[in-house]
Amino acid sequence: MPQYFTIHRKYKLLLCGCLVVSVFLVVIGLFYIHKQRKSHQNIFEIDEYDDDGVYNSRDISVFLDVGLPKRVNPNHFKNNHVSTRMVPKILVNGFRAIHMVDMTPDHTPGQVEDNFYKYLELKEINCLDDRRLGHEHDGGWNVCFSPPLGFTMPCLIYSFGIGDDWGFEDQVSKSHGCQVLAFDPSIHKDDHNRSNLIQFRNLGLGGVNEVTEKGWHLKTLKTHLKDRKHTNATIDYLKFDVEYYEWDCLQSMIWDQSIRNVKQLAFEIHTVEYFKQDMHASKQDYMRMFKLLTQLELMNFKRFNYRKNPFGEFRSTVTGVKRSCCYELFYINMNLVDLKYVLYAS
Ligand SMILES: *[C@@H]1O[C@H](CO)[C@@H](O)[C@H](O)[C@H]1NC(C)=O
Ligand SMILES: *[C@@H]1O[C@H](CO)[C@@H](O)[C@H](O)[C@H]1NC(C)=O
Repeated sequence: MPQYFTIHRKYKLLLCGCLVVSVFLVVIGLFYIHKQRKSHQNIFEIDEYDDDGVYNSRDISVFLDVGLPKRVNPNHFKNNHVSTRMVPKILVNGFRAIHMVDMTPDHTPGQVEDNFYKYLELKEINCLDDRRLGHEHDGGWNVCFSPPLGFTMPCLIYSFGIGDDWGFEDQVSKSHGCQVLAFDPSIHKDDHNRSNLIQFRNLGLGGVNEVTEKGWHLKTLKTHLKDRKHTNATIDYLKFDVEYYEWDCLQSMIWDQSIRNVKQLAFEIHTVEYFKQDMHASKQDYMRMFKLLTQLELMNFKRFNYRKNPFGEFRSTVTGVKRSCCYELFYINMNLVDLKYVLYAS
């Protein structure tokens, strides 16, 4: 009998111990949840009056990613147009990308390279409803859906450089009813209609109207628009992935202003390392690429995202830093966005 009692007591003690530990863990857990709630609370607050009332983790992560103050409260932004009923979801960060890097030819090649890549990864604005359509990774394209952007019918999309991948074109036409004009001279397909909304032409985008050595027929954006009677039409989205021709294309579409009616602009840039990893971009190359991108910004195209292409990675022989030859860059034409949809970071 006494033996039985000792064992019983032991169990009792053990049970008490477990109970104390459990209560302790529950208290810690509740405290942690409370703390988490508190730190997120203010992020939700900014959306308090939002009409759609849909919050998703992407919104929040984008928000945190921006490096905005943790306590996000509408008073941190100054904009007289903001009504209490709609809180805009296009945020203009308080800096000019062009002022954030010092790209002068007096710098060493290493400094110029550093500055160029730093510049590529700056976002002057944040679109809180930024969705990648088409494939999630390579082949997808980011679209800003924050009002007043996004696709509502009738919408018009120009897409240059298709390759084998119709993911984006199919999705924007099927899910959003957009008309898509698609072009690619490199896939040797005849003109055809992929669907009642997608038309394909065996033509490409170029800096001048020309036929290349490979027999590709290239036209400038201005000529394409003229041919389709879209000179003054609003283009909801223009994307191009044209394997290094993008620099000449950019130069011509900035010079002739044919992108002025483009709401969202997306393209992949390539440095010379794209062709051969042991080639490297010279100081002049970097200066030219930088100048073209800043000219876009001077036209009021602001970058809302970028994507470094992981397949294009190489190690720079100049700086020893791992870089990528290829970045997708995503812009909004702020000339076509009413200020009431925009919040300015103070
Ligand atoms: C493709 O569709 C367009 C517009 O719907 C039409 O005008 C054109 O004739 C069609 N082309 C072909 C080759 O079916
Ligand atoms: C486009 O708009 C401009 C300026 O409003 C006008 O001068 C021009 O004739 C228009 N072009 C076409 C093709 O409609």
